[in-house]
Amino acid sequence: MKKVRKAVIPVAGLGTRFLPATKAIPKEMLTIVDRPTIQYIVEEVVASGIEEVILITSAGKSAIENHFDYNYELDTILKDKNKDALREELSLTSSLIDVVSVRQKEPLGLGHAIWMARKVVGDEPFLVLLGDDLVRSKVPCCRQMIDLYEKVNESVVAIQRVPMDQTCQYGIIEGKETDFERTFKVKQMVEKPAPGTSKSDMAIIGRYLLMPEIFKALGKTSPGHGGEIQLTDALQSLADQRGMYAYEFEGKRYDAGDKLGYLKAIIDIALDHPTLGEPLRDHLKFVCDGKNCLQ
Ligand code: UTP
Repeated sequence: MKKVRKAVIPVAGLGTRFLPATKAIPKEMLTIVDRPTIQYIVEEVVASGIEEVILITSAGKSAIENHFDYNYELDTILKDKNKDALREELSLTSSLIDVVSVRQKEPLGLGHAIWMARKVVGDEPFLVLLGDDLVRSKVPCCRQMIDLYEKVNESVVAIQRVPMDQTCQYGIIEGKETDFERTFKVKQMVEKPAPGTSKSDMAIIGRYLLMPEIFKALGKTSPGHGGEIQLTDALQSLADQRGMYAYEFEGKRYDAGDKLGYLKAIIDIALDHPTLGEPLRDHLKFVCDGKNCLQ
C-alpha cells in the first residue's frame, strides 16, 4: 500500500459569494480570528502527517503563496525592532510545509483544478482539501481519512449528514454500511440532486482521499453544468471501477466560502480562544439580551 504524502488544495475559484471583499483579496486569505482560512487548512494537513502541499492557484492569488513564504524585508524590520516573538510566529508559518503551486489558467471547475495536479502528484494516493472548507476536530479530519485508507486501500470521501431539505446544495452519496465504524461503501453519487429527489442525507464535504486513477477518469470527463469539469462524475467512475468509501468524520465542518459559515467559524474559534473567548461570550450574551449598542 502506498503512503499518502501529498495534499492538493484548489484555491483558483473566483469567490463570487464574497464580492466585493474578494475583488482584490483571495477568499482563502480572509481572516478567521488571527490567521487566514487557508492557514487552518494547511495546519490540518501538517497535523495529519502530509509532506507536501500542491496549491492550484490562479491570477490574483499570489498572496496565498506569499503567506507561506519567507519575507526577508519583514523579518529584517522585526529583527531591528527586537520583535522576536512575532518573528518566531512568522517563521513557523513559512516553515510549516513544502508548498508547490500549479496555475489553473481558467476556472473550469473543481474537477479541472484537481486534474491540473496530475504531474506533481504522480502515481500515488493523495488528499484534496477545498481551500474554503474548514473542519475542527480532535483528530484532524485528514488523519481520520488516512487511518481508514490504511485499512481499506481505496479512495475515501468525508461526509456529513445534512437536513433533507438541504441535500440540493451538496454532492450526495448513497452507500451501504460496512464493518468499519462510520464507514459506507459508495454505490452512487449525485451532484446537487433536485429538491425532494434525494434518497440519502449523506453529503460530501471538501475532503477527499483519492487513488491516482482519478486523473484518468477526470481526463475522460466532458464539461458539464456551466462548461465546468465536475468532480462528481469522475468520482462515480472511480467508485465503479475500484470502489470507494464514505467516512462520516468526527468533528464540525464550516463552509468558510459562504458568509454565514464564515461567521460561524469565526465565532466558534474565537469562543475557544484563550484570551478572546470570555470577553466575546460576555459580548454575545449582551447582544442576545437585546442590548445591542445600536439600539
Ligand atoms: P467553490 O465553488 O466553493 O469556489 O469551489 P468559488 O468558485 O471560488 O466560489 P464562489 O461560488 O464563486 O463564491 C470550491 C473550491 O474549489 C476551488 C475554489 O477555489 C474553492 O476552494 N476551485 C473552484 C478551483 O480551484 N477552480 C475552479 O475552477 C473552481
